[in-house]
Order: sequence, then structure tokens, then C-alpha cells
Amino acid sequence: MSDKNISGRGQRELRVRVKTAKGRKLSSTLWLERQLNDPYVIRARKEGYRGRAAYKILELDDRYGFLKPGARVVDLGCAPGGWCQVAVVRVNALGQNPKKPVGTVLGVDLQEVEPIPGAELHQLDFLSDDADALVKGWLGGRADVVMSDMAAAASGHKATDHLRIVALIEAALDFAFDVLEDGGTFVAKVLAGGAENTMQATLKKNFRKVANVKPPASRSDSSEKFVVAMGYRGRELAAAAAADDDADE
Ligand SMILES: C[S@@+](CC[C@H](N)C(=O)[O-])C[C@H]1O[C@@H](n2cnc3c(N)ncnc32)[C@H](O)[C@@H]1O
Repeated sequence: MSDKNISGRGQRELRVRVKTAKGRKLSSTLWLERQLNDPYVIRARKEGYRGRAAYKILELDDRYGFLKPGARVVDLGCAPGGWCQVAVVRVNALGQNPKKPVGTVLGVDLQEVEPIPGAELHQLDFLSDDADALVKGWLGGRADVVMSDMAAAASGHKATDHLRIVALIEAALDFAFDVLEDGGTFVAKVLAGGAENTMQATLKKNFRKVANVKPPASRSDSSEKFVVAMGYRGRELAAAAAADDDADE
């Protein structure tokens, strides 16, 4: 790269600086400089992950352990594929005991995703009318983990962006309620300004444990955080509701 200088004194302080090139906006130059110096971007390149986002799910799973060998995982908004790459390794216990059960990873995204061995990938707008039915068909049963890193491209119009975020989280949660196995886990990116209170109340009612986390790989200047809701109580709640109905008759 011709417009790259290395500055700094010691090895640890080496920082790539990018000069503003003709035709490139200052914001793009700053973005490029941040990418080139981001330790997670550098690590992802070295370790073969498709993006720094991989470390967010790695860190969440290291803490909560939901990507168990044999688990069936649905990854919503999976492009370019970092979360899927992590999930494939963990649910198949690759590099560990070869006798461990085989898990599945199903990823969907608006964009096309380059194939990932061990994952089934589909291009789909998850907000389209038939999305739930299509994904359920591909899944062919229940899931142990539904995870969503879906984020709509910013329109610059605050109210519109807010509505889009809420729609994506609600769609992911509705789908999770539909397909999760009892005891299953829902992981989703939420942004400050989303439908926070309503969603937290719904999650607390339907899952045994709900954590709100900002993993170290999530940039501190970003308003994103993640909810990790574990121990889905779907059948237990349905049974309790049915028992109430019987008692009322
Ligand atoms: C932050 S990226 C996901 C990164 C991914 N977790 C990874 O590790 O590579 C957010 C993704 O959400 C996707 N997305 C946004 N709206 C969507 C929708 N309506 N349906 C499906 N995917 C959507 C975007 O196309 C984008 O690829």
C-alpha cells in the first residue's frame, strides 16, 4: 500500500497511518486507519476468520457455553460468515474428541455468503413474509441456538434506523420462540434505542436466565450490546397456560 507509513517508537506502539488520498473522504481514511490498526481485524486475518465479528460470538460462548457439541444452530444475518465459522468448529467439537456428536449450522443473510464447510447457507431477507416458513423448512426441526447479528445499513434517518432495528430483533425473537428447543438459547445484537424494556420483559418471562453483555470485541464507541437468553421455557409455559385453561373450565 503506497500511502501507508509506520510510525511510533517501540514495537508495541507500531501504528499504521493512512494519508488522505485524492478522491477519498476523510471519514473513509479514518475508517481505513482504524481497520488497519484494530487488533481484532489483525487477529481475524491471521486466524482465518472472515471478520472481527467472529470474536464477539467466541467471547460470548466462552462465557456462557451455548455452542455445545451436537447443537443445532441458526445464524441470522450471517454474512460474511465469522459467526458461522466459529459455530461449525464448536458444535462439531473440531480438533477435539472425534466421537462427539455432530451439530448443524444454518446461516441466512440478505447478501450472498461464500460457502463455509459444515454450514448450510441461504440468501434471504429475513423480514420477508415467507422467511419464517422457509428457514423452518431448511432447519427441518427444532434449534438449540438462535443467534442474530442482523443489522440494517444506516439510512442516516434516526427514526427509520430505529424502526428497522426493532423490526429485526422482533423478527429474530418471534422465530426463536417458534423453533427453540426447551432449554435453548437466544443470542442477539441489540442497539441502544431499540425496543429495550418490552424486549427485556418478554425475554425474562420466557427464559430462565437473561444476560446483557458487551463483549470486549465489541467496539467501545458502538452502541451495540448483546442479549444472551438461556433456558427457553417454551413447553413449560405452554403447559402452565393449558393447565390454567383446564382449571377455568
Ligand atoms: C454485522 S453483519 C453480521 C456479521 C456476521 N455475524 C459475521 O460474523 O460475519 C450484519 C448482517 O445482517 C444482515 N442483515 C441485515 N438485515 C437483514 C435482513 N433483513 N435479512 C437478513 N440479513 C440481514 C446484513 O446483510 C449483514 O450481513
